[in-house]
Amino acid sequence: MYFEKLEELPHDPILGIKGAFLQDPRSQKVDLGVGNYKNERLQEEVMEVVKEAETVICKQEKKADYLPIDGSQEFLQKAGELVFQEEYVLLSHKLYAAQSVGGTGALRVLGELLVKLGGKEIYLCNPTWPNHHLIFEKAKLKIITYRYLEDNGIELDFKNQIKILQKASENSIVVFHASCHNPTGIDPSRREWEELLAICQHKRLFPIFDLAYQGLGIAVAEDAWPVRLFAKSGIEMATAVTFSKNFSLYSQRVGSLFILGKDEEQKRKIASHVKQIIRSFYSNPPSHGAMIVTEVLQNEKMRRRWELELAKMRERMQKMREALSLLLSSPQIMQQKGMFSLLPLTVSQVKELQAKYGIYLLENGRINIGGLNNANVQIVADAIKKVGG
Ligand code: LMR
Repeated sequence: MYFEKLEELPHDPILGIKGAFLQDPRSQKVDLGVGNYKNERLQEEVMEVVKEAETVICKQEKKADYLPIDGSQEFLQKAGELVFQEEYVLLSHKLYAAQSVGGTGALRVLGELLVKLGGKEIYLCNPTWPNHHLIFEKAKLKIITYRYLEDNGIELDFKNQIKILQKASENSIVVFHASCHNPTGIDPSRREWEELLAICQHKRLFPIFDLAYQGLGIAVAEDAWPVRLFAKSGIEMATAVTFSKNFSLYSQRVGSLFILGKDEEQKRKIASHVKQIIRSFYSNPPSHGAMIVTEVLQNEKMRRRWELELAKMRERMQKMREALSLLLSSPQIMQQKGMFSLLPLTVSQVKELQAKYGIYLLENGRINIGGLNNANVQIVADAIKKVGG
């Protein structure tokens, strides 16, 4: 009936790599695939402050009840203050927020909303996080891509980005990586963000910020600066946030969606539509991860410790960037921010790295810097040179 003609689909280009890595019996293998942070011993450890918040939560009286459809208001306020900082109070009358199932859940719900409201075309940079394609295809948006980097693979092709967005039709949607661009690690400068804002205003485009690495680029406030720049301008926009990376809450799926309308009335209307979409997708969000984030952010001491732990992660990755950059004589790796670097490798070189050396990375050459340590960085650099990279 349904399954007779079913064809098997290819593995996910990112999460699919993990399965192959785990099956590899070699002890010297290196996992540079999925973007999750590992410590110097290459362990995916839970942050200390998260463990502490969990013990506090466990002692609290819990009700056997659902969260509201759009989640915990306490959590959303803390998440909103983290992203919008001093702007949060000024924006809150027109800023609708919903708790989401990670950043992916926020983007998927948003895609559904925008299509319902007449959205047709969405601009994605190439390369981007591959899941952007799947998410917005499933929402039935027409995807238009534009080249993100110059041919040298190390500089932003900003002129091209501007040229393409200048031609976009009114109400088109454009996705921006707020910081720590995935996969290149190359972000626009402040002046370039200002230009992008001017184009969005002039062409009446709808910007979506994907904010997945807040605190892992430069610093917590700094990494969300472009979001605040746009929000202050009064433009209609949305931001999808995940706490997977900066709270080591990968498996808790905790995120938030912020949608900025013009006033309180629009906020109310947006809320009603988002809630209806969430209700049909998954009814209401899980609470555990959101409780952890709330606990950490509302307790001054824990919050400070969280920032320190986050800074340690960021600094370890920065050291690994330095080491790899020196070993490969590629100074640009040092300039990039966040968890990733896109190495100029062909698909066959990537396959050779996997087959011969047990080094796993994305087919497009993206490596997770968080998977490098002092013991494997030389091995990785030597293997990259041996395959001709
Ligand atoms: C990544 O880009 O590796 C992460 O965001 C994990 C994912 O869901 O793809």
